[in-house]
Amino acid sequence: MTDIECVISGVGGYLPERVVTNHDLAKKVDTTDEWIRSRSGIGQRHFVADGEVTSDLATNAAWKALDKAGLKPRDIGLIIVATVTPDNTFPSTAVYVQKKLGVPTGIAFDVSAACAGFIYGLNIAHNFISTGQVKHALIIGAETLSCFLDWEDRATCVLFGDGAGAVVLSGEPPRTARRPRGVLATYLAADGNLAEHLYADGGPSSTGTVGKVRMNGKEVFRNAVQEISDAVFEVTERAKISRHEIDWFVPHQANIRIIQSCAKKLELDESKVVVTIDKHANTSSASIPLALEAGINDGRIQRDQLLVFAALGGGLAWGSALVRY
Ligand code: UT7
Repeated sequence: MTDIECVISGVGGYLPERVVTNHDLAKKVDTTDEWIRSRSGIGQRHFVADGEVTSDLATNAAWKALDKAGLKPRDIGLIIVATVTPDNTFPSTAVYVQKKLGVPTGIAFDVSAACAGFIYGLNIAHNFISTGQVKHALIIGAETLSCFLDWEDRATCVLFGDGAGAVVLSGEPPRTARRPRGVLATYLAADGNLAEHLYADGGPSSTGTVGKVRMNGKEVFRNAVQEISDAVFEVTERAKISRHEIDWFVPHQANIRIIQSCAKKLELDESKVVVTIDKHANTSSASIPLALEAGINDGRIQRDQLLVFAALGGGLAWGSALVRY
């Protein structure tokens, strides 16, 4: 047990300027706005400009999160970037963010857990902070997925977008023993037997290329509904909190039908679910912190409320986190 609470002290998001609507896509892909909306809930996505890289998006989101936390780059002891679209194969995108922010020497690395990457990063940062190794950590989900979509594969290329979301996690002394704040419980899992359902068909040691996104949509959909719901049950049990106490479900934004099915299984009213997929599409590791920022900025998510994050993606890897904001 620890006497340090890991509190979300700031949240920031960044979406590239270029908006691509379903109608825009229908000009180059054999698809329609109606199909994309009805099957996925997506209306538009943001794509990077030429020369804009993942660390640029991540840095912009991080500046906003730092500002909201009232912190300076020198206060940050740990930077974790969750991404499957790093600037380069190595070094980590996190060190480029460190350089761009002007964070002095500290810990910086990337996490590769696809759409579950932000939850994996949150869990890791929680461990660093609660064991007293660092005081403030930046956890950033950042993706430029547009760079490895196959425009001939209409079942996947219409689903993804670019963006970044960042959270500052800070170690604080407990306010009251009765009502702990911050990260209350996390749950992580992966099953490599299911890797064939969502992956990029390239890499440095296999093809020497980056590859393109390949997905068996139906299998991923089925697993997502099951594992995301189970992951929420798991964290509420770990924290000994009834899921009926949850104020906001902030899920990974892959498909509105997945989100609705999970909410139904969890008996969470749709009015308690933060949805951004219509505007952002699926931004993989960035989707939860971007949705969190949207919910905070429009005044729905308030301090002291109970939030649950949950995601599933390539790996398959999945996880959840219960947080008193
Ligand atoms: O973040 C990572 C996690 N990713 C996910 O969670 C995604 C999970 N999967 C899904 O969201 C859904 O499976 C999709 C949105 C990818 C697909 O929805 P679906 O209801 O499973 O559609 P489908 O793949 O069964 O395709 C139905 C039909 C097919 O035509 P036929 O064979 O019925 O004639 C497809 O060829 O829709 C066709 N289709 C399209 N039509 C217009 C597939 N893509 C498109 C498209 N536009 N873009």
